[in-house]
Amino acid sequence: MPQVNHGCERVLINANLITLDPQRDGAYGVMERAALLIADGRIAAIRSMDEWPATTLNTDGIEVVDLAGQWISPGFVDCHTHLVFAGNRAAEFEQRLLGVPYETIARQGGGILSTVRATRQAEVEELVAAARPRLLALMREGVTTIEIKSGYGLTLEDEIKLLRAARQLTADMPVNVSLTLLAAHAIPPEFQGKADDYVDMICQTLIPLVSEEKLADAVDVFCEGIAFSPAQCERVFQAAQTHGLAIKGHTEQLSLLGGTELVARYQGWSADHVEYLDEAGVAAMAEAGTVSVLLPGAFYFLREKTLPPIELLRKYRVPMAVATDFNPGTSPLASIRLMMNMACTLFRLTPEESLRGVTQHAATALGRSGQLGMLREGMQADLLVWNIRHPAELAYEFGVSQPTLRFWKGRLSEH
Ligand code: NIG
Ligand code: FE
Repeated sequence: MPQVNHGCERVLINANLITLDPQRDGAYGVMERAALLIADGRIAAIRSMDEWPATTLNTDGIEVVDLAGQWISPGFVDCHTHLVFAGNRAAEFEQRLLGVPYETIARQGGGILSTVRATRQAEVEELVAAARPRLLALMREGVTTIEIKSGYGLTLEDEIKLLRAARQLTADMPVNVSLTLLAAHAIPPEFQGKADDYVDMICQTLIPLVSEEKLADAVDVFCEGIAFSPAQCERVFQAAQTHGLAIKGHTEQLSLLGGTELVARYQGWSADHVEYLDEAGVAAMAEAGTVSVLLPGAFYFLREKTLPPIELLRKYRVPMAVATDFNPGTSPLASIRLMMNMACTLFRLTPEESLRGVTQHAATALGRSGQLGMLREGMQADLLVWNIRHPAELAYEFGVSQPTLRFWKGRLSEH
């Protein structure tokens, strides 16, 4: 490996770029034999090696790193996680394998609510300590941007505690963070039979406070028979819109309720899961520019049978992102590479679609499409260097290779 110092201005030469830039022709937007200049945390220039050393690149005093034919991809964006919580659900995993369905466990006060009980008892420091190894596992694989949802507190104080823990967890880490308020994740025990009153609290108190104190970028809801109805979700979206928070939804995961169309109607960033989505919902997403976030880990872990409507999503050109959905109940799987592989094997995405799913489209699902998710001049220099022969290897192989170098905002990252 070439020696790389810790300064932040450098040029990477003799690299093959997986740009994923739609303005470049060809699979993966590949540009072979390239030089990429990093300055001020951004990709300052991309040039062919034929122009190297080029008069157009002022490289005086800048470190030159010869990658000797290695490949560069954008950093991975994990656009859907529930990373911060206490306890785990291994006992529920056993129960499910003895035949009890996820929905039955949830209706009996287990599932999400068992994590809520553990999380309410935990202090911020404990939550941060529990989440750190999960984050580090994702970062080792090349995640440079992560979305983290609340949703295991379900009181004003506990939801804010989770958002603060997520902020603290990521504050000194080389990773971009996007925080999402998922207070409408489950009906809390003290509001059983009074879900509308809980939604009132979310809309009238929690969302205004979260917006005022800039504790989150977006809201999310679980629109499902075991959670919130489309009418209740719509009230959350209205409050979010009023208070300037973006909109996301867990929709059509276990049944078709119309949550996705609702997200689209509110110009949401993304509708996630979408296994049960129909053509009308897909068309609504296309019209609104809403990204579909596919979560093969939860599909696999729940042993679901209904596949997301991949062909329809392709036909209507709805961008497909892919994420871990890391959570204790349905996806305790901290690996974005595993998700890329599963998106191919379980959902029949191509390796290129799966790579775009964890970069380009995942960035759009977080409202960051102009800054992250591809290699283009002006974009943030979140880069991964790979010792591979073809970009398809990133989705094909799992558990073998890690990036040989990682850069976040142009800085070499040790994590
Ligand atoms: O994305 N669908 C709802 N939320 C999570 C599961 C949360 C849990 O079971 O703790 C999901 O699958
Ligand atoms: Fe989720």
